[in-house]
Amino acid sequence: MTKPRILVTRKLPETVEVRLARHFDAQFNLSDRPVSAASLYAAMREFDALVPTVSDKLNEGILTTPERRVQMIANVGVGFNNIDIETARKEGIAVSNTPDVLTDATADIAMLLILSVTRRAYAAERKLRDKRWSGFSIVEGLGTSVQGKTLGIIGMGRIGQATARRAARGFGMKIIYYNRSPIEELDFEAKRQGSISDVMSEADIVSVHVPGGGAAPIVTAQHISSMKPSAYLINTARGDSFDQDALIAALKTGKIAGAGLDVFESEPHVPDDLLAMENVTLLPHIGSATIEVRTAMGMLAADNLEAFFSGRELPNVVVAGRR
Ligand code: 8YV
Repeated sequence: MTKPRILVTRKLPETVEVRLARHFDAQFNLSDRPVSAASLYAAMREFDALVPTVSDKLNEGILTTPERRVQMIANVGVGFNNIDIETARKEGIAVSNTPDVLTDATADIAMLLILSVTRRAYAAERKLRDKRWSGFSIVEGLGTSVQGKTLGIIGMGRIGQATARRAARGFGMKIIYYNRSPIEELDFEAKRQGSISDVMSEADIVSVHVPGGGAAPIVTAQHISSMKPSAYLINTARGDSFDQDALIAALKTGKIAGAGLDVFESEPHVPDDLLAMENVTLLPHIGSATIEVRTAMGMLAADNLEAFFSGRELPNVVVAGRR
C-alpha cells in the first residue's frame, strides 16, 4: 500500500519526524523557515495531508484550491485560528489540534509573565546588564506583591484553570473569572462574574485565555479602559484575543500599570511602542516551548494523522471531514 503523502510545514522535534517518516511519505522543512502562501496553494494539490502550525495561514483561497488532494490538516497547536475552520467544514477537510499536552507549560508562562511584570523583572535586569546598578537599595525599583491580590481570568478553559490554580494555591491570589458558559466544578476557590467588564474593573491582574480568530477581539478597548490604573494585563492566548492598539494606548497614557505578552496581533511583528516600554514583558510566543511539550504536540498530531488514514475517529477532532 502506498503511504499517504504529507507536508510538514515547520521543523518538529526529531523523534516526531522519525515517527512520521516511518508511517508516511513525508516532506519535511529542513530550513524551518515559514512556508509561502504560493507553496501552500501548491501543497493542497500535491499532498494527502498537511501538518501546519500557527505560522501557516490556511485561508479560504488556499482551502478551496481547485483539484485539491489534501483531505486532512493535523495542526500542531491547540489554537487553530490559522485555519479557516468554516471553509474546512464546507470543503469536508478534516482538522485536528493538540490540546491538553501544552496546558501546564502555557500556564507556567502566564505565571512567569505575572511575576515578571509585578516585580519589574525586565527593568531590573536591563539596569543590571546596562551596568547601571550601583548597589543594593531598600526603596528603589520596588514592585508589588501578588499575595492577596485579585487575578481576573478571561476564559476559564483548560489553560485559564491551570493558571488560576497556580495563582490560588501557589501564590495566595484571589480568583475571579468570566466564562461564557457556567463551569460545573473547580478545585480551587473562584468567583464567576457576569461580564468581562466586571472582571477587568475589579482585578489587579487580568489574564486572557480566550481564542483569537474572531471577526473582532473578545477583549475590547472599552473593557481595557475599565481596568484599574494599578492593574496589569497578561496575554498568552492570541494577539487578536484583545485590542492590541487599545492596550498600547492605555500603557502610553498610564491608564494601566503594565502588561505581559507572549502573543501579538501580527506575529512576528511587535510594535515599536511596546518595545520601548520598560513596564511590559515581551516573549516571542513560547507558551508551549519546552522539548517535552513540543514533542508531545508533534506526537499528538501524528496520532491524529494515523487515525485518519486508518479510518478511525480523530482523537482530537476540530472538523470531522468527509472521507
Ligand atoms: C504553539 C500555541 O506552540 O498551541 C497553541 O495554540 O499557541 C502554542 O503553544 C503554537 O501555536 C505552535 O503551533
